[in-house]
Amino acid sequence: MWLLTALLLWVPVGGQMDPTKAVITLQPPWVNVFQMEKVTLWCEGPRLPGDSSTQWLVNGTVSSVLTHSYSIAAASFSDAGEYRCQTGLSTASDPVQLEIHKDWVLLQVSSRVVTEGKPLALRCHGWYNNQLSNMLFYQNGKIFKFSSWDPEFTIERTNMSHNDIFHCSGMIRKQRFHSAGVSITIRELFPAPVLKASSSFPLLEGNPVNLSCETKLLSQSPEVQLYFSFYVGNKTLMNRTTSSEYQILTAKGEDSGSYWCEAITEDGNIIRHSLELKLQVLGLQLNVQSPIHVWFHVLFSLATGIIFLVNTVFCVIIHKELQRMKKWNLEIPMDSGQGKKVTSYL
Ligand SMILES: *[C@@H]1O[C@H](CO)[C@@H](O)[C@H](O)[C@H]1NC(C)=O
Ligand SMILES: *[C@@H]1O[C@H](CO)[C@@H](O)[C@H](O)[C@H]1NC(C)=O
Ligand SMILES: *[C@@H]1O[C@H](CO)[C@@H](O)[C@H](O)[C@H]1NC(C)=O
Ligand SMILES: *[C@@H]1O[C@H](CO)[C@@H](O)[C@H](O)[C@H]1NC(C)=O
Ligand SMILES: *[C@@H]1O[C@H](CO)[C@@H](O)[C@H](O)[C@H]1NC(C)=O
Repeated sequence: MWLLTALLLWVPVGGQMDPTKAVITLQPPWVNVFQMEKVTLWCEGPRLPGDSSTQWLVNGTVSSVLTHSYSIAAASFSDAGEYRCQTGLSTASDPVQLEIHKDWVLLQVSSRVVTEGKPLALRCHGWYNNQLSNMLFYQNGKIFKFSSWDPEFTIERTNMSHNDIFHCSGMIRKQRFHSAGVSITIRELFPAPVLKASSSFPLLEGNPVNLSCETKLLSQSPEVQLYFSFYVGNKTLMNRTTSSEYQILTAKGEDSGSYWCEAITEDGNIIRHSLELKLQVLGLQLNVQSPIHVWFHVLFSLATGIIFLVNTVFCVIIHKELQRMKKWNLEIPMDSGQGKKVTSYL
């Protein structure tokens, strides 16, 4: 019944992998620190043998620092800004926005932009290393975590619900202090797929049709492999293959239905499905309507209509004629006295 071929082609859905992009890591790992704190940025990327130089771009301008690490011994407000780095064989890294603060409590974050599925580390940090106790972590004003002593909390697998504002509070001696809010952006690893058919509708019986489940991985995630499933109604046509295509070699009337597809990551953590695509396969009896047939039908209908019209007009004329004749016949005796005998035809 189902004539299908699972394509064993690997269809690349991701963007171009960029293996030569440099990466900045921070030590300690927070992109926001207090004034006077120490922070070191490290640049990792491919280099030519013997070449250890690194270029640092701060706020878009080339810095005089040429080493693998960029150290800030005691941060000041003027150290805030955008940092990028590049090694001999790499392209420039994604930027790191370093922020310098002065407050009682600071919610430190490992990154402000996180790809869904990746971890996000948080730390409720007291000014001048003041020991905080009874810390509360909030998302959009709502408490989601209490910690009596451990200032760190990691969301192991972020999802789109973490695209929000976070803050924390903690006790210093007997007083509770709240940090400012930190806005976190979660990037979708891939958008919901769109199911597309290779031929336009309506589809004629006997023709082939390819369905493709189209989505696009974030270009920064080249290591991710997506798997695709195809369904018609609640029936599975193809379960978790790396191919994003499903082929119907010769469409039949029974192939009509509501098709949809699903894309899922290998670990099954992120799953998105397409909207339904209604596929209608027209039987051969229905598709003999060639232009000639259509014209024939039009002309036949027109001719029938004209004949009907002419007939109606004739009927009316005959009817009127007969009525007139009847009248005459009735008038004859009055006019000509005892002429002819009256004959009524109606
Ligand atoms: C980067 O620019 C911001 C303002 O745009 C400035 O406050 C900061 O000092 C600059 N950072 C560096 C390291 O030059
Ligand atoms: C997102 O992750 C949180 C836990 O961090 C979980 O409670 C929630 O159900 C997840 N949401 C979705 C849509 O997966
Ligand atoms: C369907 O895909 C296969 C392989 O990619 C291709 O050879 C074939 O021409 C396609 N058919 C249609 C109807 O697009
Ligand atoms: C699938 O759909 C068919 C027809 O629409 C229905 O009879 C059947 O109960 C459904 N099965 C499940 C598991 O939902
Ligand atoms: C599809 O594959 C997954 C994992 O490989 C499995 O858990 C599931 O039962 C399969 N579904 C069907 C309908 O075969």
